[in-house]
Amino acid sequence: MEDQKRKKILCLGLACLDIINVVDKYPEEDTDSRCLSQRWQRGGNASNSCTVLSLLGASTAFMGSLSAGPVADFIVGDFSRCGVDASAVVWQVEGQTPCACCVVCPSSGSRTVVLSDMNLPDVTAEDFAKVDLRQFKWIHWEGRNAEEQVKMIQQVVMYNSTLPQHQRITISVEIEKTREPLYQLFPHGDVVFVSKDVARHFGFLTAEAALKGLCSRVKQGAVLICAWAEKGADALGPDGVVLHSDAFPPESLVDTLGAGDTFNSAVIYTLSNGGSLQDALTFGCKVAGSKCGFHGYDGIAEKFTDN
Ligand code: ADP
Ligand code: FRU
Repeated sequence: MEDQKRKKILCLGLACLDIINVVDKYPEEDTDSRCLSQRWQRGGNASNSCTVLSLLGASTAFMGSLSAGPVADFIVGDFSRCGVDASAVVWQVEGQTPCACCVVCPSSGSRTVVLSDMNLPDVTAEDFAKVDLRQFKWIHWEGRNAEEQVKMIQQVVMYNSTLPQHQRITISVEIEKTREPLYQLFPHGDVVFVSKDVARHFGFLTAEAALKGLCSRVKQGAVLICAWAEKGADALGPDGVVLHSDAFPPESLVDTLGAGDTFNSAVIYTLSNGGSLQDALTFGCKVAGSKCGFHGYDGIAEKFTDN
């Protein structure tokens, strides 16, 4: 058991550069305005989740694609600053490292993202096969190239089948974008995060309705979780009971970019340490709500770390 505790949490998905403009008012199209501040930040859902997991005190690793150059240097440098193991990064020889222009508007709480994510190949099942799975207790996939990701998950299922229950790797998936191919991931997670956007796309108006409507898509025994911004989040466990946590709004909204990634990490952190689903949901909302009250993620360490 002790050995399992020391193992890492691996997150697979996007790492990109976020160029974040903080504005007092969202700009009109075809105008020329000044921002309040601007910064570079490592972004991407899986990459942000690694940041938060590491700040919470978990041993964390990232796997995703990068293309060598100054943007990738910035990203790798920041992984290192945050203590995230980036040794599984797949260095692609063609394509560019993705970059997002982000507008964060504290007065409305909005975050608007335009992402260039065009030509960098994704991590394949063949890349994933080279990873030594013995290092990990939990692997999280941000839904992207779902068909390949299912093959990666099958590798973990095979690996797990050789081990006793307590040494197995827990598999989580995030279905955030409303893209049909991503929905094939539903039956493959032990823990499945589905976004408000996807829930709405299926016609559900609340997290609870989404969980009840989508639960037939997940495998037996799985947990389905749906966060709903200022309404908090709901979860449905194998016992069929819908759990809820209210949101924990900060004193004032500052930066909602990555709130969902923060929520996912805090949930994974709790469950990977043996916490209950209700505790995970509540902690997810606490950490994500608190994150909305400051820029970036570093403030999480001060408030929540058990280091
Ligand atoms: P995203 O859009 O970043 O993927 P969500 O909007 O679904 O993520 O929010 C994830 C979690 O973050 C919510 O469950 C909630 O706990 C917290 N959160 C997000 N926005 C707010 C807000 N305006 N006030 C309080 N908490 C929030
Ligand atoms: C936040 C985020 C940003 C990135 C964008 C990509 O959830 O991961 O860091 O720019 O979403 O969609």
